Amino acid sequence: MSALHANTAIVELPFNRWDIPEQNPQIQHSLELGDVLYLPQLAFPLTKKEHELLTPALVSPKRKNISYQPEKQNINGVADASRTEEVQQLVDRYYRCAVSLLGSLLPGYRQALHSPTTSLRLHPIAAWRANTSWRKDDTRLHVDAFPSRPTYGERIVRVFSNINPHGEARVWRVGEDFASLSARFLPELKAYSPFSSWLQAAVGITKRKRSHYDHLMLELHDKMKGSTAYQQRGLQQSIEFPPGSTWICFSDQTPHAAMSGQFMLEQTFLLPLDAMQDPQLSPLRVLENATQQILI
Ligand SMILES: [Fe+2]
Repeated sequence: MSALHANTAIVELPFNRWDIPEQNPQIQHSLELGDVLYLPQLAFPLTKKEHELLTPALVSPKRKNISYQPEKQNINGVADASRTEEVQQLVDRYYRCAVSLLGSLLPGYRQALHSPTTSLRLHPIAAWRANTSWRKDDTRLHVDAFPSRPTYGERIVRVFSNINPHGEARVWRVGEDFASLSARFLPELKAYSPFSSWLQAAVGITKRKRSHYDHLMLELHDKMKGSTAYQQRGLQQSIEFPPGSTWICFSDQTPHAAMSGQFMLEQTFLLPLDAMQDPQLSPLRVLENATQQILI
């Protein structure tokens, strides 16, 4: 495996609780550079009763995860209705912990983070990998792009906690910085068609019209996953996140691949560009600079 590009890093932070004092802006800057913030001592503890929820049978068949929209208190994907309330309490507690952590760790984003979704992932990565197409195979290095929910350049912030009760780490690969990544793939990305994007919105494939930016991000996602050479020889490093650890990244910027593991909580937020210290580091601005076009 190649050495990691100097611009990307795993930054370890020593916190062991979700309510911490407000931190200085350096941490936010590090995240904006594309670093993974790694908190090896920040566990999300489960009660004895909650440990009984850690079984793939609790996820509805055909769904990958249990998902929760905290603002609507809306939970989806619980196979056993008698456990729904218990699961909701668990994911809602995780959401509130994530809000508390990010509010102090990244105070510049506190007022701006929005559209939270929480996910409880109970399947082993190997299981859903066997039943999926290459495009949905998250064991391939990729940046996140939502096929049906265009973000128009807003950032995707994600918090992950390994809650595996058997000592099993979550193993990731992490790739190069976004500017190098996009320079590598831009010549291969298909041109944007405003008409196709309009049509996809009109027939309900997308929730609103896919912007030029969203088109390029999806193309990038697909071209990365589709390139065997990039998967094998692209700049990358492997990292293990043990149970009892938490990590954070901009998943639209930092190339990542989930290689193995089971049982995880994940919290997603969207972040408007103007909340960033340096919006020039965002995928939108990097792509606009590279293409010399306005993309939204
Ligand atoms: Fe991803």
